[in-house]
Amino acid sequence: MTKSVSDYQQQINDYLSHFVRRDIDQQTLSDAMTYSLMAGGKRLRPALTLATVEMLGGTIDQAVLKAACALELLHTYSLIHDDLPAMDNDPLRRGKATNHVRFGAGMATLAGDGLLTLAFQWVSENGLPERTRLRLVQALSKAAGPAGMVAGQARDIHYTGTKLNLDQLRYLHRQKTGALLRYAVMAGGIITNQNQPIMKALEAFGASFGLAFQIYDDILDVTSTPEQLGKATHKDAGENKNTYPSLLGLDGAKEQLDKALDSARQDQEQLNQLTGHSFAGYDEFLAYFKA
Ligand code: IPE
Ligand code: IPE
Ligand code: MG
Ligand code: MG
Ligand code: MG
Repeated sequence: MTKSVSDYQQQINDYLSHFVRRDIDQQTLSDAMTYSLMAGGKRLRPALTLATVEMLGGTIDQAVLKAACALELLHTYSLIHDDLPAMDNDPLRRGKATNHVRFGAGMATLAGDGLLTLAFQWVSENGLPERTRLRLVQALSKAAGPAGMVAGQARDIHYTGTKLNLDQLRYLHRQKTGALLRYAVMAGGIITNQNQPIMKALEAFGASFGLAFQIYDDILDVTSTPEQLGKATHKDAGENKNTYPSLLGLDGAKEQLDKALDSARQDQEQLNQLTGHSFAGYDEFLAYFKA
């Protein structure tokens, strides 16, 4: 039985639409949080966790779903705050007006705060063993916090208008976007209690996938339309953002994308060998990067 990414998306959407509002106790806040959450994201991060769990021989039950969906809460917070006037000041997200355009910057800030906090409630309050929950909380806080995504976002803002070199830009991308995707993959290993060598290989795959993801996001900003992406495009250059295309040109950015994807495929192969399971389920995730 092979599941496709759309099967996972379905499970994630069902879980979120069923359970999120129960944990929010103010109507406008609830509307603002669910407005962005249910606006139609690709659900790639929790889908990666669920796919990893299954490829490692684990089962998706309600506890696993809750832990995986926590990451989508956190990711959605990061988008709401990323779009705020004081950050990227974007009008469109997931095909709809951004949260601050619809609810105002104050409520949008709180919707993000609520989603971030609820993520840690969900990752710590589910039917998984206590030790597993603690490991997930630690890994997620490191990935999302001031040594991970938030540090990357700080670097993004701080160096806007100052040209970074390739090593610095790669580091920024690994933090601001790579860290959460790396966590998404590692969470599958934590949930199924894998040994160190397998955890290392999962981490490597997640890191390569995560770097590729932000390089591709930079490329899409140049090559796509708002209708295709559901968010404003052709913005990074005007804002003087540090991106792969601005540093290397479009062809240079695509070369770096291919390098990151090659690494991911090598890590995938290593996972096949280390575990004796097939990680062919990652192929569909890698197919996202159709250049
Ligand atoms: C967008 O993430 C933000 C980045 C980290 C590049 P996604 O492309 O996964 O956005 P959604 O969740 O599908 O809206
Ligand atoms: C991703 O970077 C930032 C996050 C960690 C949310 P971008 O600022 O490029 O993401 P988009 O293009 O607005 O989705
Ligand atoms: Mg940004
Ligand atoms: Mg942005
Ligand atoms: Mg972008």
